[in-house]
Amino acid sequence: SNCFRAGESAQEKGLPYVPECYKIPTSDRASSSPEMAKVPLVDLAGLRKGPQQRAIAIEAIKDACLRLGFFQIVNHGICQSVLDDALSSAFDFFRLPAAEKVKFMSNDVHTPVRYGTSLKDGADKIQFWRVFLKQYAHPLEDFIESWPTNPPTYREKMGRYCKEVRKLGLELMGAITESLELGPNYLSEKLESGMQVMAVNCYPPCPNPDLALGLPPHSDYSCLTIVLQSSPGLEIMDAEAGADGWRLIPDLRGVLQVHVGDHFEVLSNGTYKSLVHRATLNRERTRISVASLHSLGMDEKMGPAEELVDDQERKKKYKESSFGDFLNFLATNDIAEGKTFINTL
Ligand code: SIN
Ligand code: FE2
Repeated sequence: SNCFRAGESAQEKGLPYVPECYKIPTSDRASSSPEMAKVPLVDLAGLRKGPQQRAIAIEAIKDACLRLGFFQIVNHGICQSVLDDALSSAFDFFRLPAAEKVKFMSNDVHTPVRYGTSLKDGADKIQFWRVFLKQYAHPLEDFIESWPTNPPTYREKMGRYCKEVRKLGLELMGAITESLELGPNYLSEKLESGMQVMAVNCYPPCPNPDLALGLPPHSDYSCLTIVLQSSPGLEIMDAEAGADGWRLIPDLRGVLQVHVGDHFEVLSNGTYKSLVHRATLNRERTRISVASLHSLGMDEKMGPAEELVDDQERKKKYKESSFGDFLNFLATNDIAEGKTFINTL
C-alpha cells in the first residue's frame, strides 16, 4: 500500500503503535534482552608500524574474518570530532520537515542520492522501522553536488567523514587481501575506480520494539562495510552460537564496526563468510547509523581469486558478479532476506 511510503511512514509520523504491516513473524522477532556479542577488537595502529606489528594486526583481522566476518576497530585514525559531525549531520537531516526530505525520493536504485523508508520504499511486504538516505560518495566531486544542502553544513561534514572512511576502507581491504595471502595491493588498481555507497540510517523510537525491526537479516553487497552508530542496535549472527545466534554489538565511543561483505566471501572462495546482521529498535531514542559500503566499480566483476582455487580440493565455488548486476537484481526482484545475491556455482 502507498500509505507508508517515505514522508508518511509510521516511524516518521511517530505513531504511538506498531501497525500490522510492520509486524515481524513471531519466530523472527528480536529479543528485548539480547546477549552481547564477544567482539574482536582490532588495534589498527599495528598496521602502520613495523612488519612484526603489522603481522600481528593482520593475524587478528584474519581470525575475526574467519570466526565472525566482523570486528571492531580502534586507532583507526578518524578523529572523534569527524565522527560526531557525521552523526550530528545525519540527525539534523532527519529532523527536517518531511517536505524537505522527500525531494530526494526515488525508486530507481541507480539514483546517486535517494531518500526512503523501510528497505525498499513502498514495495516491502513487511515494512521496516527505518528511514534512510543513500548517497554515492566516490569520487566525491562527482556526487557531492547532488547531496542535501540543508542542513547547511551537511556536505562539508558528511563529505569529510566520507573521504576519511574511504581511506580507512582501502587500508582495511588491503589488510584483508594480505590476510588471504594475496598481498595488500591485490585490489588496489580496481579500487581506484571503486564505489563507495553511504547508507545513512535513522531508526526513530518504536512504541513496541519487540514487534518490528529496523532492518531485516541481510549481508552487505560490498567487499567491506564500515559502520558508525550513535547508540546500540546492530545485531550480528554468530553462526557458532547455534540457532539463536543473534548477538548485540556493544557500542564503544569512537569505535567503528567492520563487516565482511559478499564480495570478500566471493574473492576468498568462501574462506571468509559475509556477515549476516540486522538492526533492532528501542523505545527511548532515535538511533543513527552511517554505513559506508566499499566495492569495485559498477561493472567490475568480482570472482574467486585464481590464487585460491584449483581443480582439486579448492574448487571454485562462486560465479562472478558486479555491483551493477546486484542493482539490476534488486530492481526486478522482491527482497529475499539473508544473503540476497551471492551466486554459488
Ligand atoms: C547496516 O545494515 O549496515 C546498518 C545496520 C545498522 O543500523 O547498524
Ligand atoms: Fe547492512
